[in-house]
Amino acid sequence: MSKGRNPTSIPLFDLGLSHEAIFSELISAVEKVARDTDFINGKAVTDFESAFGRYHSSAHAIAMSSGTDALLVALMALGVGPGDEVITTPFTFVSTAEVILRVGAIPVFVDIEPETFCIDANEIAPKISSNTKAIIPVHLFGRACSMDLVMDLANEAGISVIEDCAQAMGTRFHGQPIGTFGDFGAFSFFPTKNLGGWGDGGMLLCSSDDLALDAKAIRDHGARTRGRYEILGGNFRLDSIQAAVLHKKLNYTNDWKRQRQLAARRYNELFENAGLCGHESSPLVLPAEDGQGEHSFGLYVVRARDRDALADHLSAASIACGKYYDLPLHLQGCFSHLGHGQGDFPVAEAASSQVLALACYAGINESAQMMVVEEVARFYSS
Ligand SMILES: Cc1ncc(COP(=O)(O)O)c(C=O)c1O
Repeated sequence: MSKGRNPTSIPLFDLGLSHEAIFSELISAVEKVARDTDFINGKAVTDFESAFGRYHSSAHAIAMSSGTDALLVALMALGVGPGDEVITTPFTFVSTAEVILRVGAIPVFVDIEPETFCIDANEIAPKISSNTKAIIPVHLFGRACSMDLVMDLANEAGISVIEDCAQAMGTRFHGQPIGTFGDFGAFSFFPTKNLGGWGDGGMLLCSSDDLALDAKAIRDHGARTRGRYEILGGNFRLDSIQAAVLHKKLNYTNDWKRQRQLAARRYNELFENAGLCGHESSPLVLPAEDGQGEHSFGLYVVRARDRDALADHLSAASIACGKYYDLPLHLQGCFSHLGHGQGDFPVAEAASSQVLALACYAGINESAQMMVVEEVARFYSS
């Protein structure tokens, strides 16, 4: 059922492992939708929205076709358009800034913090102009951004905030769930995310009744009432079958988060015991966990000396790893018209050449983690 279960190989994610224990529950949920033929905007969707909203203590949860579409709909609902500027990070998945271009606005990049890889909130203020309409902070790899600083800046400047929560469902900042600080929180249910579907999916959280109404209308071709298309929208709906699967899986996300956090701490201990981190001259820098933002370890990402050679070495040993992200957005072709070049965002650029994600999923066992650490140690000792 699960890819990569060969005992001699270690996958980056093992979706089958987390599905195995609840497989019949998930299949029954899918079967119910099929038997009810309630495929579009069905009860499964509204039930899942209610549960997701309750989990986050958020007034509105609006299911979407993907995390990308959730971000896009949030920008559309806020009326962001041509000539407007939106501040975000260059060190993220392309969706975060792609959607800014899609509404005709201009992405304004701000460099990241070296420790957390999240946007450096202290660098945002100088980038705010009279055209700035929104900030999109990204809770990268599962680590919460400094939402207190971001919200203070946004409130002072009167600009909107859309939190990109795609990689961090279930993470809290000072005890409050991420996605509930800004005007919108946008989530992805891509299968490998903290809450992953059996296909694409997404969600918007929002506390404003008016914005929620607009987002719901935009999701369904701009209709506030059936057949009356008052604003420009599209088809951004979540399928009922996905909603049914996600609703069941939602009940397990806290447990899976705890398992990833334990696995991350076990890596930290193993790497420390192997003497691979902790000094300026060490080959690895481990993910930062401090009292500020929680880390739900959607990805366990280290900085590694000779990253590319290490990645090749691990791959040759059948140990999967991932370079998230090996080219920051300001150097990607689709943003070339912004006129950025090498050196514009040095912290993001350095991260791009150093980061490596290692297997850290719910249910990973100690022996698999030891194999990863031993192989990393073998690489640096050779
Ligand atoms: C940071 C970030 N933003 C947005 C997205 C887009 O989500 P989706 O793949 O569901 O469209 C992703 C997904 O990979 C992501 O990692």
